[in-house]
Amino acid sequence: MSHLTTESVIGVIGAGTMGAGIAQVAAKAGHPVLLFDAMDGAGQRGLDNVAKGLSRLVSKGKMSQADLDTLVGRIQVINSLSDMAPAALVVEAIVERLDIKQQVFGELENICGDTTILASNTSSISLTAIGAKLQRPQNLVGMHFFNPAPIMKLVEVISGLDTDPAIAEAIYALSAAWGKKPVHAKSTPGFIVNRVARPFYAEGMRVVQEGGTDVATMDALLKQCGGFRMGPFELMDLIGHDVNYAVTTSVFQAYYNDPRFQPSLLQLELVNAGHLGRKTGKGFYNYAEGAEAPQPQTATAGTAPRSVIVEGNLGVAEPLVALLEGAGIPLTRVEGNGRLRVDDATLMLTNGQFSTRRAAKQGNRNLIQFDLALDYSHASRIALAPADQAEQSAIDAAVGLFQALGKHVTLIDDIPGMAVMRTVAMLANEGFDATNQGVCSEDAVDIAMQGGVNYPQGPIHWARQIGLAKVLTVLDNLARNYGEDRYRASPLLRRRVAGGAL
Ligand code: NAI
Repeated sequence: MSHLTTESVIGVIGAGTMGAGIAQVAAKAGHPVLLFDAMDGAGQRGLDNVAKGLSRLVSKGKMSQADLDTLVGRIQVINSLSDMAPAALVVEAIVERLDIKQQVFGELENICGDTTILASNTSSISLTAIGAKLQRPQNLVGMHFFNPAPIMKLVEVISGLDTDPAIAEAIYALSAAWGKKPVHAKSTPGFIVNRVARPFYAEGMRVVQEGGTDVATMDALLKQCGGFRMGPFELMDLIGHDVNYAVTTSVFQAYYNDPRFQPSLLQLELVNAGHLGRKTGKGFYNYAEGAEAPQPQTATAGTAPRSVIVEGNLGVAEPLVALLEGAGIPLTRVEGNGRLRVDDATLMLTNGQFSTRRAAKQGNRNLIQFDLALDYSHASRIALAPADQAEQSAIDAAVGLFQALGKHVTLIDDIPGMAVMRTVAMLANEGFDATNQGVCSEDAVDIAMQGGVNYPQGPIHWARQIGLAKVLTVLDNLARNYGEDRYRASPLLRRRVAGGAL
């Protein structure tokens, strides 16, 4: 199915947020584009929106007026579905309803030729189910763009049970030719991104629900320590709680109530209250004019370190050693298993266990765990979780140590896996599980999460940096401490750890 060239006519149905963006992407790649919307005037409005968006680029000097005119000139608004006949590929981006999508594709099959590829931009409907009503389900494929389509790199190419693999390959190649980063995925609930991303929201809400810390602090930690562009709470407020809660609930139900995807009561409360986020002026945050933005919790000055002992290798946190040296803090290295000692405090990277429990087991009351950072050298904030039995002097020493390295320090309650580590461990776990269930490859997980939701690093790659055995330990400790199936480690992660140990 390599018959798609830049001369191929691309049809787009639905000229809303996504359809207009997809039409722009196809036109930018040089295709003649036919744009159809069932609502009167909506097709033209979609085209006007494309022109309006591009004219901002022109006024910034990032695009010439001539290029804008050429691009917009390639998009023709049509007023009848029957005008789609010349299309070699039709991408559907209409209302998210199975019956209506089936009906539209059914009509298209009679309008277009046998070889026309029919693609759906659906986020949540089974491609297999859409195809079930078609004469040629082998020609149907998912082409899942992300919002805004002209900017976001990812396209999930979704195969239903009857999709011809050659069609999926053709759409993969076309997406790449359009400058996108395509990945293949099997039609399963949430596909890749909307499945693997669930823990980003869910773990944030778990930490807050359990009083680990507050919303603003959690967002600050995920950004300034975890390297994510947005924290989970501000992102949910932006997406809208009605939408985000509905996606979580649909994935949860589609996986037969697998506790891994269980929605949060915290979010349901916002939905019930009508606090849907930015669009209603209130969500986890208050967007009313003059409302004060809550600040993340930041510890006041601790005790400046006189010297530090580094026991063994710190693993993923090893860059801290160079930071210590750079800060001119006298440092002694001894054998051991990855600990920092400063005054009477002992610091360890979280392993998913309570600091309180680790302290008791080690017979060392002054144990304080620190969180995972994307990059310890550049992170501007770090979380510390002292054991319940830790003395104030030890907490002050731990706080002072990280402050001496130029970081804001946040003290959180003793929550298993802390903030960043448990989020990343659960994201990677979901990525391994999607791979294990044949949804996609490990590489596709990483490409999807970076290209679809801007994660600073693919979760599987990140887990390998942390060390798969360490990530497995975090998950096993979370599972033990919560006694919930939600935290069960993916068999594939377990197998990869076993393989790595060979
Ligand atoms: P939208 O509401 O902005 O646009 C939908 C357009 O389709 C409207 O202009 C409507 O008049 C038109 N339409 C509805 N029924 C039609 C029909 N039978 N024939 C022709 N046109 C029809 O919706 P949006 O956000 O663009 O979503 C469209 C599709 O893309 C949905 O399947 C959605 O799940 C999917 N999607 C949405 C994303 C988003 O972030 N908004 C991201 C990725 C996928």
